[in-house]
Amino acid sequence: MKLGKRLIVCVISLGLIVGSLSGCGNDVQEEEVKSIKIGVTVYDQYDTFVSQLIDRFNVYASEKEAETGVAINIEVYNAADSQPTQNSQVETMMGDGCNVVCVNLVDRTEPKTIIDMAEKNNVPVIFFNRELVAEDLERWEQLYYVGAKAFESGIMEGEIAADVFKNDSAADKNGDGIFQYIVLEGEAGHQDAIVRTEYSVSTIIERGVEVEKLNYAIANWNRAQAQTKMTQMLGEYGNKIELVLANNDDMALGAIDALKAAEIAPERWPVVVGIDGTNVGLEAVKNGEMAGTVYNDKEGQAKAMLDLAYELSTGGSLAGLDMEDGKYIRLPYAKVGVEDVEEYIEKSEMMP
Ligand code: BGC
Repeated sequence: MKLGKRLIVCVISLGLIVGSLSGCGNDVQEEEVKSIKIGVTVYDQYDTFVSQLIDRFNVYASEKEAETGVAINIEVYNAADSQPTQNSQVETMMGDGCNVVCVNLVDRTEPKTIIDMAEKNNVPVIFFNRELVAEDLERWEQLYYVGAKAFESGIMEGEIAADVFKNDSAADKNGDGIFQYIVLEGEAGHQDAIVRTEYSVSTIIERGVEVEKLNYAIANWNRAQAQTKMTQMLGEYGNKIELVLANNDDMALGAIDALKAAEIAPERWPVVVGIDGTNVGLEAVKNGEMAGTVYNDKEGQAKAMLDLAYELSTGGSLAGLDMEDGKYIRLPYAKVGVEDVEEYIEKSEMMP
């Protein structure tokens, strides 16, 4: 950062936090904080799950404002899948005097530039949803991660699939006692894609169901890409596909789009399972198109991020936050089937 910009940040911080002699960022407060600024950058604003998480974040920020009387200004940037763009957004946010920056990394293996900037400017960073490796999070003490217990989602997805196979003989279309499956995977290298694929399949096997992998395809969390890949696999395997394990709901819905476009009667569809419990995903569970989903607690993650950002910005205590190793907040997942989907729809609808 240029010296000119650095001075401006100092002036803003000193204006905001009177009594600090030690520089910029979230330094010591000796007077009541009246307003804070939180910067957020997302890897792709069109990602269904991430955009819903940010909607919740904004709602919780308004609630916190009302509760505390502290004005909370939020700047949200879309990195549009470019790490260099995201790096310069972080630079801008730090230059703008953000007290905390929340980063949904584009490339979770490339956080170094952001971490260096954070340390230099003494601005804490909360990484979320796209998890950097532990060694990177250790590079500086004011780095945090908010996300979920990744492996749980795979286990739960596998449990849903295994239960369907055991309880509904129609799931085994060719009656050979083996669950023939395909996987629709998220981005290569994303912690959730790797872990979900591995644990969903191993859980089905552990539950005593024999499986046969027909194929897999990477569809980058994306509904349209999943539809294309599913159309290709339907061309190749047709009615042999008995199970679609999708790493997220959007890809499960893309598979369903392909089944509909191919005019396959719903009673001949494979079992489709997703993860996330996005609004559209929950609807598909409700109307029976998806056998189930695994709730990725966007409300819990958004609230944890907001609470952490607030405490860091106001010099409050982190003691009330459920943190592991003083750095991680991980929310649990939950299985959602047709019997409890209403509860989750209500939870989502309660949000403005
Ligand atoms: C979600 C996906 C989302 C991805 C983005 C995952 O945790 O399940 O829906 O696309 O995060 O990083």
